[in-house]
Amino acid sequence: PSANFTIDPAFTIAPVNRRTFGTFVEHMGRCVYTGIYEPGHATADEDGFRKDVLELTRELGVSVVRYPGGNFVSGYRWEDGVGPREGRPRRLDLAWHSVETNEFGLDEFIRWCAKAGVEPMMAINLGTRGVQEALDLQEYANHPGGTALSDLREQHGASPYGIKLWCLGNEMDGPWQIGHKTAEEYGRVAAETARAMRMIEPGLQLVACGSSSSAMPTFGTWEQTVLRETYDFVEYISCHAYYGNDDGDTASFLGSAVNMDRFIDAVVATADAVGAELKSTKKIDISFDEWNVWYGARSRRTDEDPDGWAVAPRRIEDEYNVTDAVVVGNLLISLLRHSDRVGVACIAQLANVIAPIMTERGGPAWRQPTFHPFAITSRLAAGQVLHVETNSPTVSTAKYGDITAVDAVATYDEGKLSVFLVNRSTEGPIEVTVDVSRAGVTSVLESQLIHDEDGLATNSADQPDRVTPQPAEAQLEDGKLTITLPAVSWAALSLG
Ligand code: AHR
Repeated sequence: PSANFTIDPAFTIAPVNRRTFGTFVEHMGRCVYTGIYEPGHATADEDGFRKDVLELTRELGVSVVRYPGGNFVSGYRWEDGVGPREGRPRRLDLAWHSVETNEFGLDEFIRWCAKAGVEPMMAINLGTRGVQEALDLQEYANHPGGTALSDLREQHGASPYGIKLWCLGNEMDGPWQIGHKTAEEYGRVAAETARAMRMIEPGLQLVACGSSSSAMPTFGTWEQTVLRETYDFVEYISCHAYYGNDDGDTASFLGSAVNMDRFIDAVVATADAVGAELKSTKKIDISFDEWNVWYGARSRRTDEDPDGWAVAPRRIEDEYNVTDAVVVGNLLISLLRHSDRVGVACIAQLANVIAPIMTERGGPAWRQPTFHPFAITSRLAAGQVLHVETNSPTVSTAKYGDITAVDAVATYDEGKLSVFLVNRSTEGPIEVTVDVSRAGVTSVLESQLIHDEDGLATNSADQPDRVTPQPAEAQLEDGKLTITLPAVSWAALSLG
């Protein structure tokens, strides 16, 4: 079988948005404690941050990090996590049935962001709290000084944090959420919180909660109702999506990016419809601030008594395989081709909890197979995202009908072309020919392939590099690029 497509640098979608390569640190399981933060670890720095994880975070090419939740934020008191550690309270974390020591909080997170070279994206609690607590947090974080809370931050030894990007709550449509609300209730509090926050800093970028999945019964009407209330006060509406293969329907699992494409298109359509209704020229973009592969059944959920109240117990520590890495690579293709409307995206989460980076307490840190497509895409995607229309054999899937086996996107930056492509078929290799003559490129500078004869191959503390990218078989001659994509594979090429 063969597939082909043409790349033309004139067919631009939008500039590559660095915030597409975001991630998420939640106070959940071992993401913070023994993930990014572990005083006493052999690699810990003076702040207790694991330097091995900091290094991997930089290698992953992360731009923005959402914090501190997730479901956790809906019961969180931000002031528990600032100032001297001795005074910080231990609290019940209802979201993840554990005990939060508050050893790590906002002050530490901002210091960690500076060391990791990432932008913070702060979520506020609109579950058990409201407008006033959001304003207090903003004053503490961003106000230059001369007021009670900004002076408190100064006393804690910190200059203004300058946080630009804020989430107005988390998954408020979900009945599991502490302080869960109807769309009307949430829309009102989100609008009023946003309006007040802008009275302090008009230039903030604010994200209203969209649906926690496109499968929610309220999907669509939730976005419409929330945006009718918040349209003038926010820049983004959020999307969350997790894909798993628990039912063994591998064809549909490999087609997960089709679901992501449709999800994004549907939310854009809904947002634009509300804009038309309001006669607004403003466009609301998407913050896809939680996405990943997440298994229900295969997760190593916990190694502690699930009914106990433990500190940093193991929670949803999914072990990813090479097939999952191909899906993650394809989800990034979907996000990139929507760069005209997806302003922020965060793979959830960063360490241990459904994460590209794994650690052991007192032990090593390693890359999951899903780490690689993320790191490579973040490194190679640059300049303008280009429109790509593939001619490809199809794969039939139970969930999404017939889908193209080959999916692709490209970026172009001053004579350098990057092509990202995937073979979603389990049947066999596909010979792909790409006409790149209009890009004026003459050689393959780099080629990376994620594939393994064993689709379940994975990495572990003992075998951290069982799944790593290999050079792809690619040739470029007379403006024609050819590459053989094995069944279930993801590839990235840099041409110049
Ligand atoms: O990322 C794990 C959880 O998934 C988050 O806390 C929540 O927002 C989502 O349901």
